[in-house]
Amino acid sequence: MNVEDIKKICVIGAGNMGHQIAVCCALAGYRVSVTDISQEMLDKAEAFVKGYLPERVAKGKMKQEQADMALANLSFTASLEESAGDADYVIEAAVEKMNIKRKLFADLDRIAPPHAILATNSSFIVSSEVADATMRPEKVCNMHFFNPALVMKLVEVVQGPHTSMETAQVTMDLAAKLGKNGVLLKKEIYGFVVNRILAALNNEAMFLADMGIATPEEIDIAVTNALGHPMGPFRLIDLTGIDLAYYVGMERYQNTRDPKDKPSPLLVEKFTKGEYGIKTKKGFYTYE
Ligand code: 3HC
Repeated sequence: MNVEDIKKICVIGAGNMGHQIAVCCALAGYRVSVTDISQEMLDKAEAFVKGYLPERVAKGKMKQEQADMALANLSFTASLEESAGDADYVIEAAVEKMNIKRKLFADLDRIAPPHAILATNSSFIVSSEVADATMRPEKVCNMHFFNPALVMKLVEVVQGPHTSMETAQVTMDLAAKLGKNGVLLKKEIYGFVVNRILAALNNEAMFLADMGIATPEEIDIAVTNALGHPMGPFRLIDLTGIDLAYYVGMERYQNTRDPKDKPSPLLVEKFTKGEYGIKTKKGFYTYE
């Protein structure tokens, strides 16, 4: 298989990452089917698309024909069978829970055509953790986008020991077709490159806030002004999701049992209150 054989992409999960990954693929000319178990998430994703594309046209950032093509390319369905049944490439962007991902990969293996590549957009989980739920481990890899996926240029492609060269190459080529810069990691490591570096920064930021050394706002001001990051760690966690940070932290802690991997008290407090960041309009900051 090569990248030219990809005509239809299935994106699983209409959340923070999935809906934007889907639009990236549709803008690159692929037929895209987005699927989610939640009809509400699908409706939200569709509403986003119907607002975003005309807005880009109005801003002069996109031609009307491009927007029309992307809209025509996109479909939304709660049926995994309908979405993945004739897909050439699947990008799983579901919730970061191992049991759910393993079940999904087992289902996908049954539903998707035998030639289809099954990639996970997981933020931390290496694909060997899900590849063995399928009969096609050589066609399983990580394809990791960054939030907001429509803007961020990087895609990390991780080739596990089970992943074939062909799968890794097709995935790198697909990233290029989407206008992204791919980096290929030839060894698996939990969290890959970017999220490992980010986790170190975030852990320290949480520690400083938990200790009362500075408030989240002050820490964000410090980081943006001194390090030139576009957003400080707390505003960024609000963007990527406090729920995601919590699930990932718990998953990691369960693996390592290292206390420094445990979600910090401040993060747990926000998670418990259901304050997940931008998506719930309240996190470390409040949003209109
Ligand atoms: N969705 C789509 N497009 C968006 C967007 C969103 N949520 N937010 C901003 N944009 C677009 C705007 O439309 C604008 O596009 P244009 O210049 O072509 O018109 C452009 O981005 C700049 O937007 P703004 O001027 O409104 O705002 P900023 O200049 O402050 O940029 C930002 C916003 C791009 C989010 C910038 O603050 C940024 O780069 N932040 C850091 C993001 C980051 O670090 N992401 C990685 C997170 S880690 C991760 O994703 C790991 C994963 O596993 C969860």
